[in-house]
Amino acid sequence: MSPGSQPLPVRVWCDGCYDMVHFGHANSLRQAKALGEILVVGIHTDEEILKHKGPPVFTQEERYKMVRAIKWVDQVVEGAPYVTTLETLDQNDCDFCVHGDDITMTADGVDTYHLVKTAGRYREVQRTAGVSTTDLVGRMLLLTRQHFRRGDLEYTIGHDSSSNMGQDSAARSPYTGCSQFLPTTQKIIQFSNGLAPKPTDRVVYVAGAFDLFHVGHVDFLEKAREHGDFLIVGLHTDPEVNRYKGSNFPIMNLHERVLSVLACKYVHEVVIGAPYSVTDELMSHFRVNVVCHGKTPIAADMDRSDPYAAAKKKGCFKVIDSNNTMTTEHIVQRIIRHRLEFEVRNQMKEKKEMSMLNTLSNGN
Ligand code: CTP
Ligand code: C5P
Repeated sequence: MSPGSQPLPVRVWCDGCYDMVHFGHANSLRQAKALGEILVVGIHTDEEILKHKGPPVFTQEERYKMVRAIKWVDQVVEGAPYVTTLETLDQNDCDFCVHGDDITMTADGVDTYHLVKTAGRYREVQRTAGVSTTDLVGRMLLLTRQHFRRGDLEYTIGHDSSSNMGQDSAARSPYTGCSQFLPTTQKIIQFSNGLAPKPTDRVVYVAGAFDLFHVGHVDFLEKAREHGDFLIVGLHTDPEVNRYKGSNFPIMNLHERVLSVLACKYVHEVVIGAPYSVTDELMSHFRVNVVCHGKTPIAADMDRSDPYAAAKKKGCFKVIDSNNTMTTEHIVQRIIRHRLEFEVRNQMKEKKEMSMLNTLSNGN
């Protein structure tokens, strides 16, 4: 560095599949960003994931869009290699690579980070316990078993963490296996912007389930955000979502949905357990200027009234076209259609993790 010149910003590299992006991924990116100034995220292609892990749930285009919408991400590199090389870091001007404290291996059982670890260009952050793509797929597959008789212990609305898709529960990997996510106020604070709208801000309000936060939601929120300066998302409670979506919905509970939505760069604030009908009181409390809903159907409230009646009466209701047909139900159908492939994929991933853990604990 020449005298008087500014030090270059620290560029941090993360990579992964980022399939069915969840708040665990977002939390790892949040921690990675805190280790430097600019966060670059490399995402593997569908072909690479198929080779090393099994079929991804989402296409690469969907996965790229989801990661771009996470507020800590500065840049996305499409088609990053599965094994992180020093060339990849250098080509992207990244100082070091960051990954969660779990094990990632190639199809041949090689640690995907061995090169950067040896070169001292690897840092680790804490993996978020209790959430994984594998667990979410398990929750969705439970929906196909409704015709089974279920006892109270087996069935809890939308978040049965006991699902292990036919695997031996005594031999579960601590990474892929389901442990419980423990929501804390600290996590919410870490995810929140902590900002209130400025007096001059135009406030936009949207409400919904935002279950399994997906690309349709991202496109909708991006458009909703364009209608004002400050976007508030009201999240309905689990029993409310279950009332109007039925079956085993929501797949993610309210705490999990809060973090997924807070991680989105278009969102400024979240109402945790918003009333189903957008009332005059709610609009005046949050100084809402415009209320938006996408083109998906609007279910009536318990008393059969239109939840947007008050906003329509005030003339501040807008329908937004997200231009995206993805829905939570669509994701569940995708998973169910490919059920066998996902079961095999999950079992393989867990088996590899268990065998690596056994090797490590035997000191080999
Ligand atoms: N990650 C995390 N906490 C989780 C899940 C993932 O911190 N609960 C981190 C991983 O450690 C990694 C990054 O997110 O640094 C990207 O992970 P990815 O390649 O998508 O794979 P998985 O770890 O296999 O994710 P999952 O278990 O959800 O399939
Ligand atoms: O269905 P859910 O309650 O999660 O939807 C939240 C909001 O996102 C709703 O306004 C819905 O219309 C909108 N949405 C959309 N395009 C999609 C999926 C949802 O505009 N593909």
